[in-house]
Parts: sequence; structure tokens; C-alpha cells
Amino acid sequence: MISIEKVSKTYPPKIVALDDVDLTIESGDFLSLVGPSGAGKSTLIKLLIAQEKPSRGRIMIGGKDITKLRGGQVPFYRRKIGVVWQDFKLLNNKTVFENVAYALEVVEKSVAEIMAKVPQILRLVGLEGKEHRFPHELSGGEIQRTAIARALVHEPYLLIADEPTGNLDPVNTEEVIQLLQKINKMGTTVLLATHNKDVVDNLKKRVVVLENGRVVSDRKIGRYSL
Ligand SMILES: Nc1ncnc2c1ncn2[C@@H]1O[C@H](COP(=O)(O)OP(=O)(O)OP(=O)(O)O)[C@@H](O)[C@H]1O
Ligand SMILES: [Mg+2]
Repeated sequence: MISIEKVSKTYPPKIVALDDVDLTIESGDFLSLVGPSGAGKSTLIKLLIAQEKPSRGRIMIGGKDITKLRGGQVPFYRRKIGVVWQDFKLLNNKTVFENVAYALEVVEKSVAEIMAKVPQILRLVGLEGKEHRFPHELSGGEIQRTAIARALVHEPYLLIADEPTGNLDPVNTEEVIQLLQKINKMGTTVLLATHNKDVVDNLKKRVVVLENGRVVSDRKIGRYSL
């Protein structure tokens, strides 16, 4: 369980990005985080991945307050969380296989483990046969599925996607959302921050609405608009 408790975040000089947010995410949840631009969605995600620290409050994950992590502990914590961004962030000079393998190489996994694991994950995201393509030889949806594959290599407890379909057409968007649902069904908790009304309304899952840094709505089967 993830428990965000009375969390506020103020950026200097006095920009209140999050204002007293309380939010609980159960294991296995699929939660859409919506709200106007500037509402605080990405800030909340940066706090969850320990990229930023809250000004007040705490964030408990598996009984641990992650806002208290020291610098050296952060990389270990991050491995339990997969993150996918709107702008992909793939390495353009590496193939699909190498992009995913790289995430394992940096934590010094053995070649045998990498050779076993990468094909398995690429199959899961539907990229078998595309292993040796470079990012510029892929569709937007395939690029994003590579990014999702990379986010899954450490078998994260939580997969966070910040506007993952922002650069995709409706067909590729649908593909990526179906993949997130499949990953969720396999047991991974998913947090999706998005502006896409159709996506949120079709999911028929929990929707949390942020406005001016506050949670203004939290519904089990929510819709994009209040
Ligand atoms: N590093 C920063 N320094 C100062 N202000 C920031 C910083 N990051 C975000 N903000 C401000 O905090 C507020 C919340 O921003 P945030 O990026 O969390 O919004 P968002 O909901 O993700 O918006 P969008 O839908 O446009 O992605 C905004 O007013 C933004 O300008
Ligand atoms: Mg954002």
C-alpha cells in the first residue's frame, strides 16, 4: 500500500504545487490522476519516485517513509518503481533490445540473466521481432512499449506513467493503454497521469482529480470531468 499523508510541496519562491494531499493507493490498483495543467500531477509523481522531497507530510510505501531516504538509498528504492514519461527518453543509438538490456546492465546483472529476461519482457509488451530496430525505425506506440518494457525490468511494485500517450495517435494510444491494463491485471499497481478524457472514461477505473494542488475528487469508477 502507498499512503500519501498530508503532503504539501512548495517550490521557491512561493509556488504551491501540492497542498495537503491525502491519498491511499492499494496494491493492484489502477488509478488515473487527472486535472488541469499545473494542478500538481507531475509534482506528485516526482515525490513518489523520490526525485523531489515534500515540504510537509510523508509518503509511506510498504511501511517505509520514502521522504526520509538518503541520497545513496534512492537508486535502490527507484528499482521498485517503473516510470514512463511522455517524451519516451529512449537511447537513440541503442536498439530495442539494448535499451531494455541497458537498465539491467547498469545494475550489473549477468549476461545470462539479461539474455533470459529481455526477450521475456519484449514478448510481454508485444515487441518480439522488433528487438534489433533502433528507435527511429519504430512507431510512436512501439517506442512507448519499449519504454514500458524498460520500466518493467526490475519487476516494479508500482508502474507510473506520466502522460504516456501525449505524443501518440488514437490507435497507438489504445495499444499503450491496453498494455498498461494487462500489466495491472498481472498484479502491478498502475498510476496513470493523463489529460486524455477518452482514455480515462473508457477505463472505468479509479480517478483522482487534482486542482491547484488539492484532491478535489476521488471516485472508484470515475470519469475525467467531475
Ligand atoms: N521545478 C519547479 N520549480 C518551480 N515551480 C515548479 C516546478 N515544477 C513545477 N512547478 C510548478 O508547480 C505547479 C504544478 O506543476 P506540475 O508540473 O506538477 O503540474 P501538472 O499537473 O503535471 O501539469 P501538466 O498537466 O501541464 O503536466 C505549476 O504551477 C508549476 O509551474
Ligand atoms: Mg505534468
